[in-house]
Amino acid sequence: MPESNSVFPDRPQFSGFMRPCRVEGEAFNLEVLGQVPKEIDGVFYRVMPDPQLPPFIEDDPWFNGDGNITAFRIKDGKVTFKQRYVRTEKFIREREAQRALLGKYRNKFTDAVEFKIRSTANTNIIYFNGQLLALKEDAPPYALDPDTLETKGLYDFDGQLPSLTFTAHPKFDPKTGDMVCFGYEARGDGTPDVCYFNISSEGKFTEVVWLVAPVVAMIHDFAVTENWVVFPIIPQVCDIDRMKQGGEHWQWSPETPLYLGVLPRHGAKGNDVKWFHYKNSFPGHTANAYEDENNNLVIDLGLSDKNVFFWWPDSEGNAPEPSSVHSTLVRFTVNPRSEDLKLDAPKVLQSDNSEFYRIDDRFATCHYRHSFFDMMDPCGTDFPRIAPNLGGGYPLYNCLAHFDNITGKTEVYRPGRTHMVQEPVFIPRKESAAEGDGYVLALVNNYETMSSELHLLDTTSFSQAQAKILLPVRLRQGLHGSWVDGTEVPLSAP
Ligand SMILES: [Fe+2]
Repeated sequence: MPESNSVFPDRPQFSGFMRPCRVEGEAFNLEVLGQVPKEIDGVFYRVMPDPQLPPFIEDDPWFNGDGNITAFRIKDGKVTFKQRYVRTEKFIREREAQRALLGKYRNKFTDAVEFKIRSTANTNIIYFNGQLLALKEDAPPYALDPDTLETKGLYDFDGQLPSLTFTAHPKFDPKTGDMVCFGYEARGDGTPDVCYFNISSEGKFTEVVWLVAPVVAMIHDFAVTENWVVFPIIPQVCDIDRMKQGGEHWQWSPETPLYLGVLPRHGAKGNDVKWFHYKNSFPGHTANAYEDENNNLVIDLGLSDKNVFFWWPDSEGNAPEPSSVHSTLVRFTVNPRSEDLKLDAPKVLQSDNSEFYRIDDRFATCHYRHSFFDMMDPCGTDFPRIAPNLGGGYPLYNCLAHFDNITGKTEVYRPGRTHMVQEPVFIPRKESAAEGDGYVLALVNNYETMSSELHLLDTTSFSQAQAKILLPVRLRQGLHGSWVDGTEVPLSAP
């Protein structure tokens, strides 16, 4: 059995602000600078990879930490904080053993014991059909109690889940309430099988389509329109023999194109998929997708010409210098009926370095106008001042942006010169509000106080914070989250 560490490795991803948080608990009536409007009533759920124990893999990436779920309950202008780890099989067995047992990221051949499920449940947290689900793309979801955050267990949709895996980025159809999903490496590690499935708002599987990808590679996010689904393949490839020798699950492949797999959303068969391709590049998160007046697919997503996951280099060990990685919001337009599968260069919508795109979810899969995201202004941060506290191993963004697809204009919120931002969520002002009219909420890392803050922006005055909510703890960089309206989720009184 590999040696266990009693301290976290001296690496950027475990240092400074990135030191594991490892806290579970509650704090009531968080300090508020400014005003939280009384009309906001709901919960902001988010998840961070947060190892409960030091890994025995010295350079374990940030992505491999245990999923620690935060819930911010907002009601009557007050904010309550709750945080609890997902009790995954990994978490429970490591707590019993009081040491790390899981080896390399998505490499079961490096584990100290045999796991049934290796999930860390650390990538996204969503609410669907009465279930709060913690997601990691290599396994089924874990269900949690939406009020207490207690883990209920692994969730297979009453035995309907056909795939061994479940994406961390399901999409929601605002017209039908359906959840549109897929799993990749869906028959196990190293398999090229992708399983697409649609789940009705009552939790019934209504479409299941198995297809085969042209390469075994990462499909982290995807895009959905009214009649189509699109699978962008990241050129990070898997090789089971490399894994058996103790290597990484992923390796950057400079020879592999970016693929966009296009499949009819309704009534398709596996061989209906068309794999369009573009030059080697890294597709990031999608903002939204829809069908235009010519019935072409419009797909908006982040794109980088470099390997964004620099910690998984190519076969010769080449990886970009992290600060040189730049991702921009682009638009691919695809004719799904075309026999020519070579894609034209996408249109750059917004040329700044950006990621973690969110929209007004009431306009998902439809023609839309507004997106909100993290952005990097290289001049906006006092790097010499915060360098000792920064840590590393993740992409940095120091401001929040609102991009208007009609005017082409970008509004920017700068939280401060010693701050970085995490992924935002959009909160509609009320049910009948126009698209993009409401609030944007995001966790902010304050490297001066070494604690976290929630910044709340009103979209009518985006560049100024409406409220700053101060946390008594430091929450390391997280991944994704969801805003859930208070009428949708059963909660005890705050
Ligand atoms: Fe993601």
